[in-house]
Amino acid sequence: MNSSRRKFLLTSSGAALGTFYATGLAAATEANGTEVEFTELDPTTVASGLSTGSPIPLRQKSIPGFLSEKQLGIHHKSHYGGALRGYSALDARLQSEATFASDALGSMLRARVSKGNSVVLHEIYFARLSEKANKPEGDLAAMIRKRFGSFDKWEADFIAAGKSAAGWALLVHHPINGKLYNVASDEHAVSVLWMASPLVAMDTYEHAFYVDYENRKAQYVEKFVEHIDWQAVQSGSI
Ligand SMILES: [Fe+2]
Repeated sequence: MNSSRRKFLLTSSGAALGTFYATGLAAATEANGTEVEFTELDPTTVASGLSTGSPIPLRQKSIPGFLSEKQLGIHHKSHYGGALRGYSALDARLQSEATFASDALGSMLRARVSKGNSVVLHEIYFARLSEKANKPEGDLAAMIRKRFGSFDKWEADFIAAGKSAAGWALLVHHPINGKLYNVASDEHAVSVLWMASPLVAMDTYEHAFYVDYENRKAQYVEKFVEHIDWQAVQSGSI
């Protein structure tokens, strides 16, 4: 994946942050900011289905001790793939009927955003799962400690967010104030803090875990945090 680097101004971070995913964001201009470099994905070359129209293949067919091949396969093919097909069809229709006005237009516009967000979040989810536990390093680790008190406190907060979320639990970074947030979303397109970039995305829909965990959502959520690929987070992998 190609990427380019852009400097952003962040406030209140104190420390320079490492490189991680920040999509097409303009530089924040808060006074007294700390200048920080991010890896910015190049939208003309990134392999996202939003660009190519094709799903990104699964990086790992199974994650032993966490998710089976059957669970990951169904999730990837039916739900991520289905979201991409839905997004592509809506986007093509809306583009070809740009002037069309009907009662259906509003629901189509909303559905395109919802399905597009589903595509992006699933790509982050699948790309940032790890077989072995690891932890954030360097400046990102320092930012988590500063914002949440410790990595363990962040993890506990994120697990609680995951248990409460009917759709997604996210760790996001906001470029305007430089802060990290744990977010609980009950759909693909709600609870969004505009301009925020997702760093960690935990899918909490039943389809993400039911094959392996049935109704034991808490078990899935607690295991998820042991399988975050923080190196992928910091390199901006999708
Ligand atoms: Fe999903």
